[in-house]
Amino acid sequence: MASAEQIFENLLPHPLGEAREASAYAPSNIALAKYWGKRDAALNLPLNSSLSISLGDWGTQTQIAPSEADRLTFNGEDLDAARPAAAKVWRFVDLFAGAGRAPLHITTTNSIPTAAGLASSASGFAALTLALDGAFNTGLSKEVLSMLARFGSGSATRSFWHGFVRWNKGRATDGRDSHAQPVKSGLDDLRVAIIAVDTGPKSQSSRDGMNQTVATSPLFEAWPARAEADCDAVEAAVKGGDFETLGQLAEANALAMHATMMAARPALVYLKSGSWQVLETLWQARAAGLEAFATMDAGANVKLIFRERSALDVAQIFPQAQIIDPFAKPA
Ligand code: PMV
Repeated sequence: MASAEQIFENLLPHPLGEAREASAYAPSNIALAKYWGKRDAALNLPLNSSLSISLGDWGTQTQIAPSEADRLTFNGEDLDAARPAAAKVWRFVDLFAGAGRAPLHITTTNSIPTAAGLASSASGFAALTLALDGAFNTGLSKEVLSMLARFGSGSATRSFWHGFVRWNKGRATDGRDSHAQPVKSGLDDLRVAIIAVDTGPKSQSSRDGMNQTVATSPLFEAWPARAEADCDAVEAAVKGGDFETLGQLAEANALAMHATMMAARPALVYLKSGSWQVLETLWQARAAGLEAFATMDAGANVKLIFRERSALDVAQIFPQAQIIDPFAKPA
């Protein structure tokens, strides 16, 4: 069976050469059909396909430069290599550039307001992969880079394109067909609102949460087939420009994912009372005619999707909402 090291070795050109200065941007993304559960934990391969919307100018800018010693600067602050987030970054850099590589200074900045509570490993690992690609001038396609970024974070596979993006789970045991691709759509008036409920660190990482759900949740058995069918239906709605169907599916899919987590033993509950309050307000507003739908990830914050024409209503009902135009071009 292939290891992560062998997969990088096989896909990257040899020799890689010296790193030169390079910089890259990647948007964050929100899944409308969720990825939850791995079929191979070591290769970070998903049990189901997923589909997301990228967040335009909400993302990560990463710069790489040769240096005297390894140094990681995140949002202006140097991170000790022993910190778990930094250790994940350096492990990925070693996979990409080889453990015997020369030292690098990585400077990474999120344009996502910290107060939005939207930790973004997706844009972080996509921007890091693109910056490494530039630094070592690998000439790899975005599909291959998307496949490699999976080793940093699954959702990063989808942050290589703007707009709607589908990550195909693939079938190959070495994951060679598990990468993302853009999905064409006429839904360019789609807007996303982030309703921050809790901006502190997650109670449990998505990686641990997924493993706990797969191993102990009696409801998980139903998830992979349902999630795959939802992903196909979401893709059809995106392609057909059918916002209503897209919204209904995305909300049902997110709630089904949270149901599998809550049935885990011990229970895995990311949603807080504030999340439920947002959902109840949304459902009341929807009964009164608001065309907006919710989705939630491995955290308490709620994200809404709606069309541009509903933006004023959303802002009025949820004064704390941060509204994002996913199609805004980054500066
Ligand atoms: O890629 P990860 O390990 O951050 O996991 C992402 C999990 C969800 O955000 C809950 C779903 C998704 O598809 O983004």
